[in-house]
Amino acid sequence: MSWLTALYFIPLLGIPAKAVNNGLARTPPLGWNNWYSTYCDVSEDLILETSQLLVDTGLLDLGYKYVVLDDCWAEEERDNTGHWRADLTKFPNGMKYVADTLHDKGLLFGMYSSAGELTCAGYPGSLNHEKEDAEDLASWNVDFFKYDNCYNLGQSGTALISFNRYKAMGDALNATGRPMVYSLCSWGEDQVHTWGMSIANSWRMSGDIYNSFTRPDALCSCDDERDPQCIAPGTHCSLLFVLNHVSAYADKARPGAWNDLDILQVGIGGMTDEEEKAHFALWAALKSPLLLGHDLRVSNAKSLTIANNPAILALSQDPSTKAALLVQRDTNVPKDKYGVGETHVWSGGLAHGDQVVILLNMANENQKISVSLEEIFVRDGAGGIAAQNHHDWDVYDLWADRMSDNDAQSILDAADQSAREQLFQKLNWYNSTRIPYSEGLKMRDPRLLGKKVSMISAQGILEVDVSRHAAQVFRLRNVDDSNLKRRVAIKDEL
Ligand code: GAL
Repeated sequence: MSWLTALYFIPLLGIPAKAVNNGLARTPPLGWNNWYSTYCDVSEDLILETSQLLVDTGLLDLGYKYVVLDDCWAEEERDNTGHWRADLTKFPNGMKYVADTLHDKGLLFGMYSSAGELTCAGYPGSLNHEKEDAEDLASWNVDFFKYDNCYNLGQSGTALISFNRYKAMGDALNATGRPMVYSLCSWGEDQVHTWGMSIANSWRMSGDIYNSFTRPDALCSCDDERDPQCIAPGTHCSLLFVLNHVSAYADKARPGAWNDLDILQVGIGGMTDEEEKAHFALWAALKSPLLLGHDLRVSNAKSLTIANNPAILALSQDPSTKAALLVQRDTNVPKDKYGVGETHVWSGGLAHGDQVVILLNMANENQKISVSLEEIFVRDGAGGIAAQNHHDWDVYDLWADRMSDNDAQSILDAADQSAREQLFQKLNWYNSTRIPYSEGLKMRDPRLLGKKVSMISAQGILEVDVSRHAAQVFRLRNVDDSNLKRRVAIKDEL
C-alpha cells in the first residue's frame, strides 16, 4: 500500500484528526454560566453564592466545576494602557479575587469576551487587543474563556477570515502559558465545525438557544436547518432546531474539541419536566459542554434531580468520547400548531462496548418508536454487517434511578455541611471526585448504568412507547459480551 493510500484509510480506522493540543477538556466541560439567569446583572456576590451552591448541592462532586461569568463584567472604557478594567461596582475585589476564591473551593473560573470591537452587550471586545486581554485573563488566574462573535467589523464570511480572527486569540492565550479552556461562540458561522477543533476546545454550532422544545422563531431561521451551510446566528433557537442543525456534524466531537449545543435550559422554566430530561440527556450523549443555565439561588428540587443524575452524566464523561449520531428521523408524525413534529433516534458508542440509544418524540402526540439493532449500530457497519447486530442486548433505563424530589428537597434545605454529608452518604450518591466516571464505568458501578428494563435479541428491534415531547434514554449492554468485547477493544486500539 502506498503512503498515500495508507493516509486515505486512516479516518476509516477511527484515528481522530488532530484536536487542539492544550490537554484540556478531554471530556466535555461541566459547570454553570450566568447568561440565561441574570443576563447583565452580574456581581461578585452572584458568582460566589452560586459557587458555594455548586459545592453544597453536591454538583461539584458530580463534576460541575467551571463557573462561567458571561458578558457585562467590564467597564465601558479600557485604561490608558489599553487594558481591560473590571467594573468595581460589580466586582469590588477585582477578578483575580473571584478566581482565587473559586479555586479554594475546588472550582474553576470562566470569563467572556467577543472577537469584535465590542461584546454583544457593548463592553470592550478583544479584536486587536488579543495580547493584552489574554495577559489580563492569565494574570487573573482564569481557567476558561468564552469568545463571542459580536461587532466583528465585518471580519467574517469565509472560514479562513473567521479562523484567523479566532486563532489570534488562541495564540495569545497559549502565549501566556496559563492553561485555559478555549470556547468559541461564533454561532456556527463560517463552517466552524471544520476548523474549530484545530484551535479551540469547543465551538458553538448555532445561534442562541431558548427554552422551547420545538417552537420555530423568526430570529433563528433558515430554509433547512439540517443543511450545514444554514447559518442562524440569531437567538430563539429551539432544541429541535439545534439538534437538527448539529446532526450533520455530530461526529466532529473528539477529546478536547466539542460541538457546543449552548447553555442548558434545565430549570429555567417554560419546558415540562419530560422536555428538560430529554434535553439534558441529548446534550450529554452528544458531548456538548454541560453548563447549567438556571439561577441556582432559586433552584428547585426537580431541576436538581435532572442535573445530578450520574447515569446521564456518565454518558457525557464516557472515556470513549464518541458523540451520539442521528440514526433515524421520521417527519411523518402528528404536527403541532407551528406545523412542527418529528421523532428521532440518536445512538452512540460508549466505553466497554456499551451503546446509548435515545428515542426522542418531538411529535404532537404519544408515539411508538421502533429501531432495529442494524440502525442502532449503523456507524459500525451499514446493512447489518456490524458485529453488534448479531448479539443479544440488555436494555437499561438511565432515568430509572433518578433522585426523588423529597431527597433533593432535603439537600436544598439542609442546615449545614455536616447535614448534607449525612444525606449524601445515606443516599449513596455518586461522587466523581472520589471515583472518576472512567473508573466507575470500568468497575460497572450500578449508579452509572441505570436499571435493566428489557432485552433485544440478535438482529432484533427496540420498540418503545414514548410520550409526547419526551425521550426514553437507554444504555445497551451486551448480554454475552466476551467475543464482542475483544473486537471492540481491538477497534478502540486502532
Ligand atoms: C451571545 C452569545 C450568548 C451570550 C451573549 C452575551 O452572542 O451567543 O451565549 O454570551 O452573547 O451578550
